[in-house]
Amino acid sequence: MEQQNHKKVLINPVFTTIADAAKELGVDTYVIGGFVRDYLLDRGIPKDIDIVAVGSGIDLAKRVASLLPGNPKVSVFKNFGTAMINHKGQELEFVGARKESYHRESRKPVVEDGTLAEDQKRRDFTINALALSLNEEDFGTLLDPFNGLGDLTRKLIRTPLEPGITYSDDPLRMMRAIRFATQLGFTIHSDSLAAIIEHKQRIKIISQERIVDELHKILGSEKPSAGFASLYETGLLQYILPELKALEGIEEVEGQRHKDNFWHTLEVVDNIAKTTENLWLRWAALLHDIGKAPTKRFHKRIGWTFHGHEFVGSKMVYALFKRLRMPLNEKMKFVQKMVRMSSRPIILSEDFVTDSAVRRLIFDAGDHLEDLMTLCEADITTKNPRKQRKYKNNFKLVRQKIVEVEERDHVRNFQPPIGGEEIMQTFGLKPSREIGILKEAIKEAILEGVIPNEYSAAQNYMLQKGNEMGLKAKI
Ligand code: CTP
Repeated sequence: MEQQNHKKVLINPVFTTIADAAKELGVDTYVIGGFVRDYLLDRGIPKDIDIVAVGSGIDLAKRVASLLPGNPKVSVFKNFGTAMINHKGQELEFVGARKESYHRESRKPVVEDGTLAEDQKRRDFTINALALSLNEEDFGTLLDPFNGLGDLTRKLIRTPLEPGITYSDDPLRMMRAIRFATQLGFTIHSDSLAAIIEHKQRIKIISQERIVDELHKILGSEKPSAGFASLYETGLLQYILPELKALEGIEEVEGQRHKDNFWHTLEVVDNIAKTTENLWLRWAALLHDIGKAPTKRFHKRIGWTFHGHEFVGSKMVYALFKRLRMPLNEKMKFVQKMVRMSSRPIILSEDFVTDSAVRRLIFDAGDHLEDLMTLCEADITTKNPRKQRKYKNNFKLVRQKIVEVEERDHVRNFQPPIGGEEIMQTFGLKPSREIGILKEAIKEAILEGVIPNEYSAAQNYMLQKGNEMGLKAKI
């Protein structure tokens, strides 16, 4: 394959335009990085294209833009020596070849210009240092000085230089190694792993935003557990998600053990990754048990308990999102809600399922009921086939019950048929505590199945309850 020419993938007119601009300016130019890697892996044609010029990347970008239809805007990042063009939804990123480490978000000033070979060796991994020529004399030729192609075949994450140097240049690369290994199903070279373990504490200098980007990509992959297991094994997890690390381990007291909640969590995340692409639901799976570390207790009679871990866990979600500078918006609230409610359907599935319990679940979960059920089904990780069957079956029953109760009672997102205004008019009340009590009583009666979710039943109930409270109806 090495000798093969790759003109075909460069058929997109954008490459011809870049080649023309490069020729005009007299700078050697190459496609490099993710585009080449993903093309060789047959992962489909990637959206973003990284271009390296042996000369000024910014000048090249400007010339390219002037030749492209519609003359798109060039965003110049002078400090980084890069320029970006958004062309038909595709991001074209231009950079001049460098002698020193390449990374876009680096605060370091632009470093000395270099040759293509010098640039390639300061990149993160051999598989990301692969370049395709856009020059007339060898258009489409693959330039692969570190045998990245071999590493693609061997499925290996390896650094072009001695790993200690590559990771010191940009410690985020420790996470990138784990992220690429997870996304691609690759192995990290043992020298790299050793270097990550040695340099792990340097992750502290990396911004939370860049770390979270990698976490999202790990979580978004087919088998996220591989990434979290590597974060754990290299010791990075302690710095990034100490709440998860704290779940690791099995304690035994008086012959009673609890399960290892870290490895259990990873199984849950893999399970949920099979059923949903929803990143925030995957976050919920990752965090659903974090309250178990601080709530763990041993009781002589009942053994290990984690009382209230769902509530404690949902509070911890806020602190965790804040620390990682993740959005404190409705996404976070969703994750909190999932964590807080994470045991509700399980409790239902273990017991005899009553209508009122199902009604409460529907009411409390609202629009997120489906997601909650998905999370809870992913939470079944028992290796005992009999129990596995039993739990799954019970969930089926819960789902059936949900459909039945919904059809009959319409309690999802329901507003009680009688509101505060009507209660005030009925009893001639001013805004007061009694109104809240009556409203709550009507809602409870509907959820408990004491009365149906209908107006006249609710009205009668209001009159009866008001009476019991010593209120007199005025109308
Ligand atoms: N790069 C690097 N070190 C970094 C970040 C990036 O050496 N810390 C180089 C790599 O050659 C990488 C290229 O810059 O291939 C582009 O970076 P980026 O867009 O972040 O990654 P991609 O490889 O394109 O992959 P993905 O889009 O999946 O993140």
